[in-house]
Amino acid sequence: MSGLTRHTQLRKKDVTVIKLGGAVLQSESTMDGMAKAIGYGWSRGGQIVIVNGGGREIDALCKRLSIGTAKAGGLRITTPEVLEAVQMALSKKSMEIALSLMKQGVPAVPFPAFSAGTVLCRRRALPIDGQDLGLVGEVVSVNGKVIDALFDIKAVPVVYPLGTDDSCAMYNINADEVASSMASELGASTLLLMTDVPGIMVNSSVLKSIRYEEIRTLLANGTISDGMLPKVNAAGSAVMSGVGRVGIMDGSGPDSLSAFFREGILNGTEIQV
Ligand SMILES: Nc1ncnc2c1ncn2[C@@H]1O[C@H](COP(=O)(O)OP(=O)(O)OP(=O)(O)O)[C@@H](O)[C@H]1O
Ligand SMILES: [Mg+2]
Repeated sequence: MSGLTRHTQLRKKDVTVIKLGGAVLQSESTMDGMAKAIGYGWSRGGQIVIVNGGGREIDALCKRLSIGTAKAGGLRITTPEVLEAVQMALSKKSMEIALSLMKQGVPAVPFPAFSAGTVLCRRRALPIDGQDLGLVGEVVSVNGKVIDALFDIKAVPVVYPLGTDDSCAMYNINADEVASSMASELGASTLLLMTDVPGIMVNSSVLKSIRYEEIRTLLANGTISDGMLPKVNAAGSAVMSGVGRVGIMDGSGPDSLSAFFREGILNGTEIQV
């Protein structure tokens, strides 16, 4: 990603960017528990941005529509048909999260990342494992104006990762990458990547923390694969661009998020400079 300019000095409060993976929030009660935890952080004056994924939902919808799916390097190969399913699944998820938050009294606003030029991307040109990824975008820049306006009215943005390029063509972007880019641009104090595992696993144990330079070893020796690849890269870029705390955490229930908002504890893997 290039072209990001941080404007931390404009902000008076702490910004927390929370990425909710598609693998989490699989039941209404889990979603409501998560919304309660987020609502607590919001009620304490926190400025919170949610970015949602939707991998499981996209897979299920593609199956229903008899559209084949494939991934390379943890990223979804996105044909025009897959992009349609991605649009449906991601927007639905974003609306569901927003509704759960609203049930908790939190004013939430679901919208695609391209809205009013918030996330500009370009087509990811490089093939991965020899495969062209199709309509997959990579973030070029983030404009924080819409988010700032929502913060001004104490609303919580629930962003889903569909970006556009400078010709307004739409692309599917990995949600971890969007969350990381937003956290960097917003000068966020924290980026939490909530997923379906308790953190980065090495030989069946969760790493408590990992330094940026150690990430490359894990990538090279095959410890990290599939969806954890873009996640670890996203976490690494956020930490290197100055985001204070970056965690990969268990999002299968609200406990980790509650512990973070109530006690400042980061349960999971903390990525450090
Ligand atoms: N070393 C590792 N530690 C933990 N998980 C790993 C590791 N290597 C690969 N993974 C895989 O990464 C997955 C998490 O990424 P995945 O993309 O599936 O979920 P997500 O990003 O939370 O959801 P979404 O892609 O829908 O936003 C885990 O479920 C696990 O299978
Ligand atoms: Mg993922």
